[in-house]
Amino acid sequence: MKLTDEEQKILDGAKGEMMAKVMKTLVMYGETFNADKMVNVTGKFGHLVTSFGLSMMKPVYDMMDKLIAEGALSGQKFTVDPRPLDPKVPQSFLEKTLFKVMYSKQTDYEAQLEKIGLVNKSGFTCTCYMDEVGNVPKKGDILSWAESSAVVYANSVLGARCNRNSGIIELFGSIAGKVPYFGLLTDEGRKATWIVEVKTSKKPEAQLLGSAIGMKVMEEVPFIRGLDKWLGNDLNRQTKKGRDACDFLKDMGAATASNGAVGLYHVENLTPDAKESGENLIVKDSPVYVIDDAELERVKKSYPCIWKNISAKPSLCFIGCPHLSTEQMEGWTEILLSSLEKNGRKKFVFPVVLTAAPAVLEKFRVTEKAAKLGKAGAVLSDICPLMYMNNPLCRKKNVITNSNKLRTYSSSRYYTDEEITAIVTGGKK
Ligand code: F3S
Repeated sequence: MKLTDEEQKILDGAKGEMMAKVMKTLVMYGETFNADKMVNVTGKFGHLVTSFGLSMMKPVYDMMDKLIAEGALSGQKFTVDPRPLDPKVPQSFLEKTLFKVMYSKQTDYEAQLEKIGLVNKSGFTCTCYMDEVGNVPKKGDILSWAESSAVVYANSVLGARCNRNSGIIELFGSIAGKVPYFGLLTDEGRKATWIVEVKTSKKPEAQLLGSAIGMKVMEEVPFIRGLDKWLGNDLNRQTKKGRDACDFLKDMGAATASNGAVGLYHVENLTPDAKESGENLIVKDSPVYVIDDAELERVKKSYPCIWKNISAKPSLCFIGCPHLSTEQMEGWTEILLSSLEKNGRKKFVFPVVLTAAPAVLEKFRVTEKAAKLGKAGAVLSDICPLMYMNNPLCRKKNVITNSNKLRTYSSSRYYTDEEITAIVTGGKK
C-alpha cells in the first residue's frame, strides 16, 4: 500500500505508540483486501457496533484505556449501537441476575466510550441515520462504520461509501480519520453483479424480500428492478412517500445484510447510485433472480424454528430490529390498537416490546398514543433485542418477531407484520 508522508510518519510512531498501532492495523486490513492507498474519512460522525460491556471483553477495555491514556481519541464524534440492558423489558429474577453478571462492565465501558468520542448519552441506536439522532451522512461521504444494517443503509439509501468493517477496526478508522480504499468505496466495487426482478402481486414484506435477496446474492451487490412500482421514486424524508420508502429500505436492507452479507444494493429509479447511473451499474452477464409471491412463500417456509416445542404459545414479541422510525412507531401504534379493539381486547395477549432510538422514543413517549400503547401492555425500549436474547436463559423463551435479522441470530420466530398483529392482539389462536 502506498502511504502519504503523513501516514508513514504516524506508522513510524510520530504520534505515539498507540496511534502507530492503529495505523498498522488499518494498513494490514487494507493490504488483506489489496487496497493500494488510504483515503480520508469524510462523514461528520462515526458509528461503533460494540455497545455492550460484556464482562469477557477484557482485552477491549485494556486497549481503550491505553488509547485514552495516550490521547489517541476519535477524530470525529460517534454514535453507537443500542445498549443491551433495559429493566423495563420483561425479565425474570434469574435473567436479571444473569444480565448483571454478563454486562458487568457496561457502566465502565460507556465511560470509556465517552472519553474516546461518544456523541452523547442518547447516541445508542443502530438507526443513527434518523433525523432525530442526527448522524446522517451525505452522498459520497466516506465512512468508517461496521453495524451491518447501518452500513447497507448508508451505502444504498444515502449514497455514502462504507465497507462492511468489523468492530474496533471501525473505531480505528475514526481515530486515524483514514480507511483503506477498496470494495464498496470504489466505483468498481459498487457495480451490481446480480439482477433481482421483483414480480410480486402486492407490495412485498420488506424483511422477507430482504431475506430472499440476501440468501441468494450473499455478499454481492444486487440491482433490484420492479420495486419502484411499490415504493415510488422519492427518498426524501420530508414527504410521507419518501419516509415510507426509506423505512421499507431500512428493514429490507437489514435483512439482506444479515440473511446474506449485502453491504450495498441498488433499486432502479429510486436509490441514489441507480438514479445517477441506471443500467450502467450492472456488470455484463449478471445472473437474474426473479422474486414472485411463490418465491417469497418458499423462503418463509424454509426458516427453521428452533423452539424446544414448536407448538408452544409465544410469550414475548419484539418489533423494531433495526430500530423503528417515528413514523413506524406511530403506524404500529395505530395498527395494534385498532386490532385490539376489533378483537374486543384491552390488552395484548403477552408483552410486546417496540424498540427505537432514544431520541425517537423521547418524542414519542409524551404522546397520547404512547400512553394508550403502554396501557395495553406494550413496552417502549431503546435496547437491542438481540443483546437481550443472546444468553442461555432468554434463548429458551418463546419469542416472536417481525425482524429477519433477529430471527437469523437468535432463537426467535419470524412472522410477517400482519401475522404478528393478529397473534399479539388475540386475532389468531
Ligand atoms: Fe439493531 Fe440490534 Fe437489530 S443493532 S438491527 S436492534 S440486532
